[in-house]
Amino acid sequence: MRRQLQCKEECLNGEFVRVGPNPKFPPVAGYHWVVSGPSIWLGAGLDRFDGDGMIHGLRIKDGRATYVSRYVRTSRLKQEEFFGGAKFMKVRLFVLLVVPLRPQRLRVLLSVFHIGDLKGLFGLFMVNMQMLRAKLKVLDVSYGTGTANTALIYHHGKLLALSEADKPYVLRVLEDGDLQTLGMLDYDKRLAHSFTAHPKVDPFTEEMFTFGYSHSPPYVTYRVISKDGFMHDPVPITIPAPVMMHDFAITENYAIFMDLPLYFRPKEMVKEKKVLFSFDSTKKARFGILPRYAKNESLIKWFELPNCFIFHNANAWEDGDEVVLISCRLENPDLDMVGGAVKEHLENFLNQLYEMRFNMKTGLASQRQLSASAVDFPRINENYTTRYEA
Ligand SMILES: [Fe+2]
Repeated sequence: MRRQLQCKEECLNGEFVRVGPNPKFPPVAGYHWVVSGPSIWLGAGLDRFDGDGMIHGLRIKDGRATYVSRYVRTSRLKQEEFFGGAKFMKVRLFVLLVVPLRPQRLRVLLSVFHIGDLKGLFGLFMVNMQMLRAKLKVLDVSYGTGTANTALIYHHGKLLALSEADKPYVLRVLEDGDLQTLGMLDYDKRLAHSFTAHPKVDPFTEEMFTFGYSHSPPYVTYRVISKDGFMHDPVPITIPAPVMMHDFAITENYAIFMDLPLYFRPKEMVKEKKVLFSFDSTKKARFGILPRYAKNESLIKWFELPNCFIFHNANAWEDGDEVVLISCRLENPDLDMVGGAVKEHLENFLNQLYEMRFNMKTGLASQRQLSASAVDFPRINENYTTRYEA
């Protein structure tokens, strides 16, 4: 009994929060309802791109638990509530791109896409509808179109809800456990690009490291945010073509960027009825390692490994001359299979935990498989971020 009381008073006070997608209105172009669970991670993973971000909070205080769920009050959700229905397409990426298409050399301003549903002429039609609505001021895209549904991070006293197509939304946890959206965070207007859903906080320096990716140059932009919440100047990272870059990693001295051959190819979406991103198995996987306080990319070192795609990394650290990355590696992903059955998901998205090593002196890279079974969404004790040992 005494131990119980001690635990009530000293241990079990706090709030567990998580975020996930939950569409408030039936989406414009359908929704992927998939069985969630670790064995069909990709179905669940891609679904994360679809619905409005909902925060779930479990408050434990003085031996009592209370639960609350609240939508992140994003710009798009507020507008859709005004209209009483979905008006935005599923958000995947914010893109501003002019694409010439034959035979009319039609110039199309592509805006916002979801991976799974936008294919062929239907995809083109949906894009045009979205653009028309924005042009006619039916929709306001000036505050972004993200869903804030992918991940949460806590930095500089702020709880942030993230989706990689947009800027962070700041949330407040109230004394009674309720959750409130304070608004979008642009770091005093210093943030003008998208912000990954997987930034890293160094537990030793309390700095946050992040990046955004785009489909117009610079394709990648790296940022460092001080422990006081100041966002330093952007560091553009040059890669040859626009790719999906969902995650990155940091070590004590470096930032690791992944230029993997999952290319943004809007022409193929229309012409070959493919999804917006296609994997090119003829290309190598490239890893760029940059001193993490670099002011520009002049000191970045690029390494090559056999082609793959990676959604999520587990951790990275330094071991002598080598930078070590622990990652969930996918062989030959085919996003066209995303809409298929569970069995197809499994057959086309086999991924394993890998250790990758990059020798900063010799320029050589190597990798070895650590697991046989499918694994993704790795989590570590974040006190170990950047280090092998805390
Ligand atoms: Fe993710």
